[in-house]
Amino acid sequence: MSEVHVTSHPLIQHKLTILRDKETGTKAFRELVDEVATLMAYEITRDMELEETMVETPIQKTKAKSLAGKKVGVVPILRAGLGMTDGILKLIPAAKVGHVGLYRDHETLEPVEYFVKLPSDVEERLFIVVDPMLATGGSAIMAIDSLKKRGAKNMKFMCLVAAPEGVKALQEAHPDVDIYIAALDEKLNEDGYIIPGLGDAGDRLFGTK
Ligand code: PRP
Ligand code: URA
Repeated sequence: MSEVHVTSHPLIQHKLTILRDKETGTKAFRELVDEVATLMAYEITRDMELEETMVETPIQKTKAKSLAGKKVGVVPILRAGLGMTDGILKLIPAAKVGHVGLYRDHETLEPVEYFVKLPSDVEERLFIVVDPMLATGGSAIMAIDSLKKRGAKNMKFMCLVAAPEGVKALQEAHPDVDIYIAALDEKLNEDGYIIPGLGDAGDRLFGTK
């Protein structure tokens, strides 16, 4: 079974509280999503492999560490995942970016795929799939299915707010994909929104309704 990491860092929790506030406008919302994504990227990269290297400081040569292991790909689930992408790239600037476009049908709550574009070396990369919200889990499951179908072997999923229902569904569908969450909320309401949540992440990020 996959691991579920709920990040308890005070800066993340503080910023998340402002994101939840219905009075927070689009500009501040966008900036905060970006900042939280950077802080979460620090957590999600904690187990990255290192190798020994030599470096010459102004004083002498010394052994030091640099990143080894798999190259990274960031995959935002459109639209709302876009808001987290730059925040992650600040820490992993060499990462390539793929896109999976999905929307959730408002009647059935089922995700509908409309766009997929991934880097060509899919099999060799560690993909960080990002979306602010994990509600029923349908979108995350379909996005990861889509990556696997195209050859992806290593993935992590990162979101800001998750419902227990979505975490359970994602773990059952993809037991090999660890999940990183800033807050695990109470439940879903009858419209499939996370309670207490932060509302519609895509609309709040892009100022749509
Ligand atoms: C939202 C959110 C997730 C999805 C989560 O996207 O950004 O992608 O819903 O719900 P689920 O876990 O029940 O699938 P939405 O469909 O509203 O599209 P948008 O990002 O384009 O607004
Ligand atoms: N998508 C959102 O943007 N918010 C929710 O609460 C659930 C799905």
